[in-house]
Amino acid sequence: MIRQVLVLNGPNLGRLGVREPEIYGSVSLDDLAELCRSTGRKLGLSVDVRQTDDESELIGWVHEAADARTPVVLNPAAFTHYSYALRDALAMRTAPLVEVHISNPAARESFRHTSVVAAVADGTVAGFGLVSYQLALQAIAALAAQAELAPEPGGAAR
Ligand code: DQA
Repeated sequence: MIRQVLVLNGPNLGRLGVREPEIYGSVSLDDLAELCRSTGRKLGLSVDVRQTDDESELIGWVHEAADARTPVVLNPAAFTHYSYALRDALAMRTAPLVEVHISNPAARESFRHTSVVAAVADGTVAGFGLVSYQLALQAIAALAAQAELAPEPGGAAR
């Protein structure tokens, strides 16, 4: 079964390749999207990669994922550190959620040390450049497989 996955990216990640390349590398968002799609194919995942600078649009995509029970890999970018609205939207999730970062926020400025979304994610992958996204997709595939093997509450295993 091919599983749909959303890879959502927050503000300024559309500038990958030109944005502080010493931190975020020289690969564009289009290249990142292709890497995610090809990694997904190998894992049996159909990956839809989106980016927005707009908090409201990002929250709309999170609602869409919750309604469709779609797993999400999310790089919330700067929203990581202060968006309670995004955190509350993610708390309604109905499928696996992995937070991802290209850089390692824990090794950077102190304002980046807080993630207001980490507590509502299954886990976080940070600091491995674009490999962070590949690891996050692996985690989603593993979590989805586990969920399929798990018995229905009060019922027999499928
Ligand atoms: C980031 C880290 C955030 O602190 C920053 O605001 C970003 C990118 C990362 O991928 O390393 O925009 O999420």
